[in-house]
Amino acid sequence: MHEVVDWLVTDKNGVYVDGTFGRGGHTRALADQLGSSATLVGIDQDNSLLLNFDKSGIHQTLLLQHANFENLEQVLKSNKINSVNGILFDLGLNSATLADAARGFSFDRPGPLDMRFDQSQPLTAALVLNEYDETALSKILFEYGEEKAARRMSHAIVQSRTAHPFVSTNDLREIVAQFTPPKFFVKALSRVFQAVRIEVNHEFAALRSGLKAALNTLAIGGRLAVISYHSLEDRIVKHYFQEESQYPAPPELQPYQATVPGRIKILTHKPILPSADEIQRNSRSRSAKLRIVERMA
Ligand SMILES: C[S@@+](CC[C@H](N)C(=O)[O-])C[C@H]1O[C@@H](n2cnc3c(N)ncnc32)[C@H](O)[C@@H]1O
Repeated sequence: MHEVVDWLVTDKNGVYVDGTFGRGGHTRALADQLGSSATLVGIDQDNSLLLNFDKSGIHQTLLLQHANFENLEQVLKSNKINSVNGILFDLGLNSATLADAARGFSFDRPGPLDMRFDQSQPLTAALVLNEYDETALSKILFEYGEEKAARRMSHAIVQSRTAHPFVSTNDLREIVAQFTPPKFFVKALSRVFQAVRIEVNHEFAALRSGLKAALNTLAIGGRLAVISYHSLEDRIVKHYFQEESQYPAPPELQPYQATVPGRIKILTHKPILPSADEIQRNSRSRSAKLRIVERMA
């Protein structure tokens, strides 16, 4: 939290976007450091979080927008904002949503197979498990969950749903149990639930588009900070930052140099990890990786 604010604020009266508003913890921390003429834009796919936010104590202009951060450029345009000084993406879901059994994200609480960040979208986890074909399911479990038993699990899902469609998180739990020794059960559950969640929310496509939109809207000297929580997500962020920090040199320069500077500079060559103290206060931060870049051109 402190690192994000310290790195992100380059102009105390600038415009800052929290692209994953959640319960507004980072926005509040930013507001505490900003001047009264700064503008804050809070975006979240989950409108219930925006509706429940208590704005008291925030003295800057705060615009809360129900949107996917992949649509950042349209959101800013509709608010007549042309460029911004800092953007934060703190990926994934917030702990309150995870703890709410009715949202279907948690494998230790029975609940409906929902898993939508945005409850106005039609695709749910139940639809994925009941409608996708075996190959598509296997690809999701393998690519988004790195689950070794992906093929066998997908086969079992397709066999089992003809008699009993998937309704509850327990139905998915039972499939995972069939293919996992008790010692590895919890890890397998988190891989499989993560994979289905990524598919339901098109998380990787949204991340790629969101990163691009963020760089497009940053002012020169503005910064983008991204916190990711698993290696697949971090890899997308890392590779995109590498791609945008160096471009292939034009043909006339190729004999002398292979690359030219891109539109960003990477400020964190190694990701920033949480301190032992932060992990103790918030155990979910243990897998967090923070990467920051600055727009140069
Ligand atoms: C880890 S939480 C953010 C917590 C927040 N930084 C705080 O301090 O309370 C991630 C939030 O991002 C939202 N989210 C995830 N992907 C999103 C996307 N593509 N567009 C907009 N919001 C997204 C989720 O709904 C969730 O509320």
